Amino acid sequence: MDRLKNKIVLITGAAGAVGGAVAQAVRKQGGVAITSDVASQKADHILDVASESDWLRAIADVARKHDRLDGLVNAAGLASLGNIEDTDFAAWRKILSVNLDGTFLGCKHAFALLKRKGGAIVNLSSVLGLVGGQNFVAYNASKGGVRLLTKSIALHGARLDPQVRCNSVHPAFLEGPMVDDMIKKTEHPDGARARLTRDIPLGRFGTAAEVAEMCVYLLSDESRFVTGAEFIIDGGLTAR
Ligand SMILES: NC(=O)c1ccc[n+]([C@@H]2O[C@H](COP(=O)([O-])OP(=O)(O)OC[C@H]3O[C@@H](n4cnc5c(N)ncnc54)[C@H](O)[C@@H]3O)[C@@H](O)[C@H]2O)c1
Repeated sequence: MDRLKNKIVLITGAAGAVGGAVAQAVRKQGGVAITSDVASQKADHILDVASESDWLRAIADVARKHDRLDGLVNAAGLASLGNIEDTDFAAWRKILSVNLDGTFLGCKHAFALLKRKGGAIVNLSSVLGLVGGQNFVAYNASKGGVRLLTKSIALHGARLDPQVRCNSVHPAFLEGPMVDDMIKKTEHPDGARARLTRDIPLGRFGTAAEVAEMCVYLLSDESRFVTGAEFIIDGGLTAR
């Protein structure tokens, strides 16, 4: 129950399925979860991850209250469907700005607080940051970007004293609103859900709580020798 004892962890997208489960898991393990999300959602901080001024304000507030940060979980994200022909530039920009710019800004502006005592960043990518899908052009690009952004930050953080670790997490489809909304937009929602489930060797979608457990490990001292790595949690989807 104390794997994150007294660790101060900032979580984006914390009104969502994964961010919410991470906040709960951090508290359960004795840590302090600072939650954030966009203005329309409930959280400790209003933080649109694509807004640099929001980041500066939120980090200044954390610095005033805690003077350090032990962990950052970039869980805010938007899903999108669309291929190269039917995705317009505005839709592309929106997905890239939240999923990739938002993760960059979070890592960048939290870094000074993370390196005070050493810390760990966990970036939510996706299996779609590892393999392509014809109908995920913007999402693929954004999550693939998060994967390599993570490695660059990990290599920089490894050179510091104290060190800052950075890893990415790659879930497949999870139970929750993000996938429900995506499935509703397909031509045959019932068929789409069954097909997606069939593609997963373990025969089901994952849960946000399972992803949160992986995040706890990556935030904790148990993973002190782990950085720049990709953690796949996909029921075997990408093993084929
Ligand atoms: N749900 C899945 O199946 C799945 C699979 C793979 C990866 N992921 C990734 O995991 C992360 C969490 O997904 P989730 O399932 O919790 O989704 P979710 O839709 O339940 O939650 C996402 C949260 O992000 C917030 N958000 C959106 N735009 C934002 C912005 N500009 N600034 C701050 N917050 C913003 C939303 O308000 C929401 O609370 C995302 O990055 C997602 O891409 C999810």
